[in-house]
Amino acid sequence: MSDTARQLALNLFIYPGGHHEAAWRYRESEPRRVLDIRYYQELARRAEAAKFDAIFFADGPSLPENVRYSSRVRFEPLTWLSAIAAVTERIGLIGTASTTYNEPYNLARLYASLDHLSDGRAGWNIVTTSDAGAAQNFGLPEHPPHGERYDKAREFLEVVTKLWDSWEDDALLADAESGVFADVGKVHRIDHVGRHYRVRGPLNVARSPQGRPVYVQAGSSEDGRSFAAQHAEAIFTAHQTLASAQAFYSDIKARAVSLGRAPEHIRVLPGISPYLGSTQAEADRLEEEINELIQPAASLEQLRRLIGLDLSGFDLDGPFPRHLIDTDGPRGVASRFQLVIDIVDREKPTIRQLIRRMAGARGHWVLVGTPERVADEIQRWFVQGAADGFNVMPPWLTGGFDAFVAEVLPILRKRELFREEYSGRTLREHYGLPRPASEFAQDRRLSA
Ligand SMILES: Cc1cc2nc3c(=O)[nH]c(=O)nc-3n(C[C@H](O)[C@H](O)[C@H](O)COP(=O)(O)O)c2cc1C
Repeated sequence: MSDTARQLALNLFIYPGGHHEAAWRYRESEPRRVLDIRYYQELARRAEAAKFDAIFFADGPSLPENVRYSSRVRFEPLTWLSAIAAVTERIGLIGTASTTYNEPYNLARLYASLDHLSDGRAGWNIVTTSDAGAAQNFGLPEHPPHGERYDKAREFLEVVTKLWDSWEDDALLADAESGVFADVGKVHRIDHVGRHYRVRGPLNVARSPQGRPVYVQAGSSEDGRSFAAQHAEAIFTAHQTLASAQAFYSDIKARAVSLGRAPEHIRVLPGISPYLGSTQAEADRLEEEINELIQPAASLEQLRRLIGLDLSGFDLDGPFPRHLIDTDGPRGVASRFQLVIDIVDREKPTIRQLIRRMAGARGHWVLVGTPERVADEIQRWFVQGAADGFNVMPPWLTGGFDAFVAEVLPILRKRELFREEYSGRTLREHYGLPRPASEFAQDRRLSA
């Protein structure tokens, strides 16, 4: 794909209430609609009308501690996306599911079903679950260590890939005349026996329109990056600076190429949380107004989750106690830990300044300015090897998203950086990704 044809991939990353941790309190938000499916169906239809590639739901099988002050309830992603699939046609549907707290056979059925229900729009955000609190919900004494989670994730992915391939594309015949429903020669047991899983298969859902859901991943640690370079087709990531995003981008692409993969078959999508105003001052005022709604207790709990340090007893307007950071100690979310430490070392903030920095989008890029400035920055990251597109993270919903669509998209389209119309129907077609053939079909043809 020559540079001229290269266009942005844009996802709407939906966080109930918005990505700013206090957004649910903002005068334009609708906090009571957080469990109203029509609210999300409407939002998904708006993202589709704006020709976005996909909507994305994050997930963790546990309730975070700071629910007293934060909008933290959410539906289970596949259930949520299925209700949205029914009222949309083209928008991709990406949901998170954990390889640590799920069984491969069940998960394979869920995503194959969503891909069928949506005529090929399913994407799976593959996480090992960063929140240690989940372990107690699954009878585990403690959250498995990082390396072990990734070891299990590699085998988990191998099993579900075989299950999604266990029906060849033309195995389902449904031929009433001959009475043959399926060509059993093209339906395969997987007979997987591994360190973590024993799965016979085949799957009880025939092969879905995309063959397999789009493999999405969001790890940034060494384990996370090598997993992503091997398997991911889209990678979500959090960066504060162009330089850090460029370093991540070229590292991931280089790793993938060294594994024989085509760099264009991996979309690197950093998060961006835009605050728009007709002037810079107006945009700054908007960010300030929402920051004013912050409740330190909620922010300090969020910070504890990210860096493993409880600062609740400290003077908020005092300096961040850098000396307490034990770089070899507990790290919360590995890559986010480093991101916070980089902010502390670079900007020497007070605790209040730091929680304001993190409240916007948990370490993702917060961009405050006029639509032109936001479009310029998006273009800069896109053309300077830092991104293939973005996860758009509206600070509050739905106004924060509507403003981006109304004011920034027209500028990106004028610069031919974003599609006017969908050219495909499936998420793979939106991202420009190949449709994988069934491994069993390839083996059968080779052995024929
Ligand atoms: C955009 C984005 C979305 C994420 N969504 C989730 C999620 O839904 N659930 C989850 O447990 N972790 C999520 N994470 C965290 C990652 O899966 C991962 O645990 C984290 O980036 C740490 O990377 P590591 O696994 O390489 O240590 C997300 C990260 C990013 C950047």
